[in-house]
Amino acid sequence: MIGNDIVDLALARKESNWRRPGYLEKIFTNEEQFLISNAKNPEIMVWNLWSRKEAAYKIYNRQTGIRAYIPTQLACVYDNENSGSVQCHGNTYYTKTEITKEKIHTVAVTQQRDFSEIKMEKPLAKIHKKNGIPFVNYARDAEKPISISHHGRFIAWVAMD
Ligand SMILES: CC(C)(COP(=O)(O)OP(=O)(O)OC[C@H]1O[C@@H](n2cnc3c(N)ncnc32)[C@H](O)[C@@H]1OP(=O)(O)O)[C@@H](O)C(=O)NCCC(=O)NCCS
Repeated sequence: MIGNDIVDLALARKESNWRRPGYLEKIFTNEEQFLISNAKNPEIMVWNLWSRKEAAYKIYNRQTGIRAYIPTQLACVYDNENSGSVQCHGNTYYTKTEITKEKIHTVAVTQQRDFSEIKMEKPLAKIHKKNGIPFVNYARDAEKPISISHHGRFIAWVAMD
């Protein structure tokens, strides 16, 4: 199972004042707030953790059918700036995060070995949605989960081989 989330850092800067009083407490656990306040670049840490939570949530939503705004229940375990996991209601989602000057992109999977099977190109086949969740049809009767994320100037697709 897969999920992804992309953050356009220029747009995030415009859209969100994460420094305003009370904002971080609503979204991040105590451990995550500690990571942010001790980070060399707190802004990058905010969006890094954010994109991990959103990528993991897309798997959680696909698995359970539950739609909810649960930012503090998606708890990041931070290994380093590029990898870690997210815990949510007893589930573990493994994450890999790529950071550039322009964007942050996280891919989440349910099993670490799935990282080696990830495809990130725009699919040639048609995407359709079931209850808002996207799938791609590779053949008449074979559909596969796909995760899509767009923000600002960027779009990213993640599917498994
Ligand atoms: C649904 C949600 C994950 C969308 O995220 P977003 O950053 O607003 O938008 P993105 O572009 O990354 O994702 C939108 C795409 O996700 C897809 N999507 C929706 N549910 C999905 C799922 N379970 N798995 C994979 N993809 C999913 C949609 O198809 C949509 O693509 P489309 O518009 O081309 O159809 C988000 O709005 C949400 O509800 N999050 C709740 C979780 C939470 O508590 N987050 C707090 C911040 S940490």
